[in-house]
Amino acid sequence: MSEPAASPTTIPAPRGEPIVRARALSRRYGSTVALDEVDLDIHARELCVIFGLSGSGKSTFLRHCNGLQTPSSGSLQVFGIDPATATRRELRGLRQRVGFVFQHFGLVGRLTALGNVLSGGLGRLRGPRYDVSSYPQSMRREALQQLDRVGLADRAFQRADTLSGGQQQRVAIARTLFQRAELVLADEPVASLDPETSEQVMGMLLSICAEDGLTVLCSLHQVDLALGWADRMVGLRDGRVVLDQPARALTSQQAMRVYQRSQHEPDEQSAGWAAVETDAASSPRPRMGDVASEHA
Ligand SMILES: Nc1ncnc2c1ncn2[C@@H]1O[C@H](COP(=O)(O)OP(=O)(O)OP(=O)(O)O)[C@@H](O)[C@H]1O
Ligand SMILES: [Mg+2]
Repeated sequence: MSEPAASPTTIPAPRGEPIVRARALSRRYGSTVALDEVDLDIHARELCVIFGLSGSGKSTFLRHCNGLQTPSSGSLQVFGIDPATATRRELRGLRQRVGFVFQHFGLVGRLTALGNVLSGGLGRLRGPRYDVSSYPQSMRREALQQLDRVGLADRAFQRADTLSGGQQQRVAIARTLFQRAELVLADEPVASLDPETSEQVMGMLLSICAEDGLTVLCSLHQVDLALGWADRMVGLRDGRVVLDQPARALTSQQAMRVYQRSQHEPDEQSAGWAAVETDAASSPRPRMGDVASEHA
């Protein structure tokens, strides 16, 4: 079995350089505008939560960040690479630097917890691996360490589909850490978990990422939970950024306004938003206003 290939050069983004840079990013599906002229920079080591009503474009934005979707117009760069125009090699390199934590965990049920974590290291190896014993010992040791960090060392050899939801998500987090991802995208990572487990898993995800200096972009509906952990809150509505603020500068009540449904008919929705915006009068669609971008 071949030894691990040299990891691709991972040059940390220079301080101040955004890791994700979206400019007028729009994505349409037929007549649906999922993202509408989004301008957003995510900086290194930020813990950024993206939130908003169902259908506001959160998952679509996250999927653009690892090249699973491409823009209809505008541009996006992740680690200086545009996933839409990247070569296959660049895209492979990019996906190694970007981890994805899914709502439904995305584990292989028949594999053990350790097998799933190890699969996060496949990008570092040449050729396939069929079971835990086919990975180099150094990798097995490292994978166990990551399982230990999420409190699951004692579950290493348990099949993933027999673990509880919270345990499965912790395995998925360990897999992302083992992948050595620098940018962690998490799409409603605790939406399938009870409140107490959600708190525990979110706390674990964000504290470990902060400890490792990783950048996190996480979609989340639990605003209070997000306010407790995030550095920055980005609110989306109808595919537009309508709020962008440091979490510490935001109250739960202010954040919840992103979720306010208009009391008006659909063609009067912008009037509903006039209550939130400072400059809504000139805008036919919701835009960032009331809680202006103070993000430094
Ligand atoms: N592949 C697709 N084909 C057609 N429409 C799509 C596709 N992906 C997303 N959409 C539409 O784009 C809009 C935004 O979807 P998205 O999944 O990004 O929302 P979301 O904010 O993640 O919602 P939720 O909170 O329910 O997960 C929705 O109207 C959705 O139906
Ligand atoms: Mg979604």
